[in-house]
Amino acid sequence: MAVSIKNQQDIEKMRIAGKLASEVLDFITPYVVHGVTTDQLDKLCHDYMVDVQKTIPAPLNYAPGGHKPYPKSICTSINQQICHGVPSDKALKNGDIVNLDITVIKDGYHGDTSRMFCVGDPSIQAKRLCEITYQAMWLGISKVKPGATLGDIGHIIQTFAEKNGYSVVREFCGHGIGKAFHEDPQVLHYGKPGTGLKLQAGMMFTIEPMINAGKRDIKQMPDGWTIVTKDRSLSAQWEHTILVTDTGYEVMTLSDGSPAIPDFI
Ligand code: MF3
Ligand code: CO
Ligand code: CO
Repeated sequence: MAVSIKNQQDIEKMRIAGKLASEVLDFITPYVVHGVTTDQLDKLCHDYMVDVQKTIPAPLNYAPGGHKPYPKSICTSINQQICHGVPSDKALKNGDIVNLDITVIKDGYHGDTSRMFCVGDPSIQAKRLCEITYQAMWLGISKVKPGATLGDIGHIIQTFAEKNGYSVVREFCGHGIGKAFHEDPQVLHYGKPGTGLKLQAGMMFTIEPMINAGKRDIKQMPDGWTIVTKDRSLSAQWEHTILVTDTGYEVMTLSDGSPAIPDFI
């Protein structure tokens, strides 16, 4: 599949979808507390998307090749869960770190973004993993401009994560996005500078590093979706949807509640 170049109309619609996805995270933030179940978070987000935003939760019944349909409207990945955690009747507890990954469809276009949340007061190590992963995502974003390569993005994320004693998940990556949830290219969060696809203005893709406190190896749970660290170490992830502009990048998935951009950017 070729990598599509978005036109002005595509870009305008992606801005709207991206902001709406981020606003779901703003909306849900006060509910991410000790005792809430991830099913409750799923229902709150689902109803906000469908009833308030008039968006479609893209994960619901999403069934890419080889997968059974995803049963919920958001992904909730707690502690050692890397990604695609399926909401359940299990309650969050103090000290948990949890990724909420939101993808909405508005007017045919997708906005995809995720953040880490602290429940109560997690360990210093858990908070550090969340912070380093956030910085890693932004370092990747900072490399985006015409003429740069996907390898430049992967390399800076990998180097920074490993320098901090962490590992980068290899089996899942960022992705092109637009009218489809997952398009070409694949955006690896590791790699070598100057290698891979050369970026052009109008390309749109996510950057969504998954970083483990321990080893990089993964395991899929029997539900067919939830991915965990094989060594049960903590894992964190952040995600933005990014447009390559003539001069650099534009982040599609920002809203009033987005955490501050690191000052080294
Ligand atoms: N939002 C995820 C991503 O960033 C994909 C979730 S697919 C699902 O690509 F089916 F698990 F929801
Ligand atoms: Co994504
Ligand atoms: Co996502």
